[in-house]
Amino acid sequence: MTSSPAAPGSRLASRLGFSDRVFVGPAARRVAREIEEGLERVETGLADEVRVADPLADAASRYLYEAGGKRIRPVLTLLAAQLGDGNTDAVIDVATALEMTHLGSLYHDDVMDGADRRRGVPAAHAVWGNSIAILTGDILFSRASQLMARHGERAIRLQADTFERLVLGQMHETIGAQPDDDPIGFYIQVLADKTGSLIAAATQSGVIFSNAPTALEEPMRIYGEKIGVAFQLLDDVIDLSAKPEDTGKVPGTDLRAGVPTMPYLLLKAERDAASGVLAQRIDDGVTRIAAGDDPAILDAALADLRDHVVTQKTLELAHTWTGDAVTALEPLPRGAVRDALTRFAETLAERSS
Ligand code: IPE
Ligand code: IPE
Ligand code: MG
Ligand code: MG
Repeated sequence: MTSSPAAPGSRLASRLGFSDRVFVGPAARRVAREIEEGLERVETGLADEVRVADPLADAASRYLYEAGGKRIRPVLTLLAAQLGDGNTDAVIDVATALEMTHLGSLYHDDVMDGADRRRGVPAAHAVWGNSIAILTGDILFSRASQLMARHGERAIRLQADTFERLVLGQMHETIGAQPDDDPIGFYIQVLADKTGSLIAAATQSGVIFSNAPTALEEPMRIYGEKIGVAFQLLDDVIDLSAKPEDTGKVPGTDLRAGVPTMPYLLLKAERDAASGVLAQRIDDGVTRIAAGDDPAILDAALADLRDHVVTQKTLELAHTWTGDAVTALEPLPRGAVRDALTRFAETLAERSS
């Protein structure tokens, strides 16, 4: 992917793969054109901001940016901004900064998860090693903060508070649930923190920096957070079922590394003997992989988990969260923006990458 301009409509359509379903009717298509225009500006901003004078830092920080990405967060900021003055300079900068925060978090996440591939290319740590990958994430976070600082204390606070939550989410995931924690409730909180926080910041900031009515800020924050949880629950299902050519990731990466996902947690909560046996097979495989065995030893068990009712239950849970996200939109005025946000949530529930 490059920042070269494309025909309006085509980029959003290709990025999201569902813009025709999100933007239905003439008023909605006007909104789509605005978002397209905003996205072009965000793209130009990203291309500028990932540039670093040092050649190694430059190559590393451009690397995952140039590999692609769906731009879900900026699309949501731009969409929320349609509730106010639209694509203001502040909206564009804040959308760009939040996408850079997301980008930086991917460099760190792949180190933490030991993930080999991201956005269809080898993960940054596989190319440059852990230290450079971590430091590149740090550069991107610094750049995001610099961009936010142009728009005053509100923007800086939003960035700092969001980043703290994201980091705590990653940290809690790493530490894992403690004996007194309910594992499923703990996991949902991790998802809300590590992913919901940033998507919530994206939707909330669209309201704030477009000067939309303040009363819409909280509903849009809640909408973003719930979308984020649903998004991650779907990620868990996709992790088991999707083809690497669609996702750009290795299927089952998290589970093979012993990172629990919702299907696995639900499996552990099942009481029948067959579920217990499957959970044991997964646990044994994780132990052996940690001791150096080929990660492929879990292929069959992960295929069985994909076909188990708990994966369907995870999908249903994700749909509950998208439904709740749509309910959060009730205070919004009826119209093209609310319709598009509703469709966005519904279509997200069908995502496969
Ligand atoms: C991946 O997010 C990381 C998560 C929080 C699940 P995306 O699926 O939005 O990643 P890109 O930007 O499209 O690569
Ligand atoms: C990514 O979560 C969350 C952040 C980057 C903060 P995951 O580890 O579950 O996402 P993928 O599957 O690697 O994209
Ligand atoms: Mg990961
Ligand atoms: Mg992770």
